[in-house]
Amino acid sequence: MTNKIHCKSTQCTSSYPAGINWDASVVLPVVHSAPFKFSSTAELIRYQESENIGYTGEYGRIANPTIRAVETHLAELEGAQDALLLASGMAAITTTMLCLLRSGDHVVITDDCYKRTRDFCTDTLAGFNINCDVVPVDTDAIEKVIGSSTKMIFTESPTNPYLKVIDLEKLADLGKRSNILTIVDSTFATPVNSQPLSYGIDMVIHSCTKYLGGHNDLIAGAIAGRQDMIEQIRDFNSTLGAISTPETAYMLERGLKTLNLRVNRQNDTAMRVAQRLESHPRVQQVFYPGLESHPHKEISFRQMSGFGGVISFLLDDDFEGTAHFIDALKIPAIAPSLGGVESLVEQPVLMGYWDIPRAERERLGMYDNLVRLSTGLEDVEELLDDIESAFAFCASVNIQ
Ligand SMILES: Cc1ncc(COP(=O)(O)O)c(C=O)c1O
Repeated sequence: MTNKIHCKSTQCTSSYPAGINWDASVVLPVVHSAPFKFSSTAELIRYQESENIGYTGEYGRIANPTIRAVETHLAELEGAQDALLLASGMAAITTTMLCLLRSGDHVVITDDCYKRTRDFCTDTLAGFNINCDVVPVDTDAIEKVIGSSTKMIFTESPTNPYLKVIDLEKLADLGKRSNILTIVDSTFATPVNSQPLSYGIDMVIHSCTKYLGGHNDLIAGAIAGRQDMIEQIRDFNSTLGAISTPETAYMLERGLKTLNLRVNRQNDTAMRVAQRLESHPRVQQVFYPGLESHPHKEISFRQMSGFGGVISFLLDDDFEGTAHFIDALKIPAIAPSLGGVESLVEQPVLMGYWDIPRAERERLGMYDNLVRLSTGLEDVEELLDDIESAFAFCASVNIQ
């Protein structure tokens, strides 16, 4: 029997059947509509004349109800007036900078942050006649390069990959005294462990691809802060078009439901792994903001409630020895990214720095023996055993 198509028009009814209670859905509905309709011209005029476009706009590049719901959730998590979801963490960073900076402005960015962010500031912005200074993760160092044209201070906290932490209170104070916008990429901290806005930082950025999504299966970015600034960037992005999608927003919302559970577990696991690595004879140095040995421990202990799932460490070995250790690990996958339920491991020198001359790489701290491990939700004892076994395997190969 063949299916008979009764309706020749694109939509069988002029409106959806009555009696459907969309509000009864326990989970966030995914709204795919690209345009949003108005019941009458009068309603469209009311919409055009109102200041707040509400939860839907007239078009999906401007607003979408599923995305808007997640933005509200993100704003709540950061204690912000508003938030904007974008296509990726990089979209959040570049859109914010392109929107808020002008030719002749000066930006200060701290070193040891995600390479593409730093490259965007030093190289891409230069093409717009926007100058940039890269300084150590320290408010005194930032203050030294501030000038009359400085408009923005951008830092990660903790940084990628050395997990340096900035004093958020001092940074916010510096920004306010100098009338300079302060932006913190809080991807490594998550709102569970650190709340930059509560210290007076102007805006927080996240690569939602990491902990917020949490399952290594989506790419998204977010900005949170004062409503007027978020509105300005939202409007700008309605032109640039680096929007997220309703499906991604749904998956992000699903991830956010377990954010607390996941991050607290990752905090515990990473602390155990960091302590174990620190006592291992084949490890030269461990970088984890929860360790007593961390250079910024006074700041991290004061302003973070947990220290995240990422640990960086230097092995007492060369490039090949470090690669053998990584290859011998069975649980963490060799991959970039972090913050998901699966543990991931990388030699940072191979991810993004491989094409740079060795001397320059080393100036940036990208040594051959540096390892970055992002702990997931695996059993911590199994992870520790896996690390011990990898060390034991490498030792046995060396002896032969
Ligand atoms: C701290 C930090 N910010 C931003 C980004 C960019 O995020 P996305 O990959 O979502 O564009 C990354 C990516 O690794 C990152 O580590």
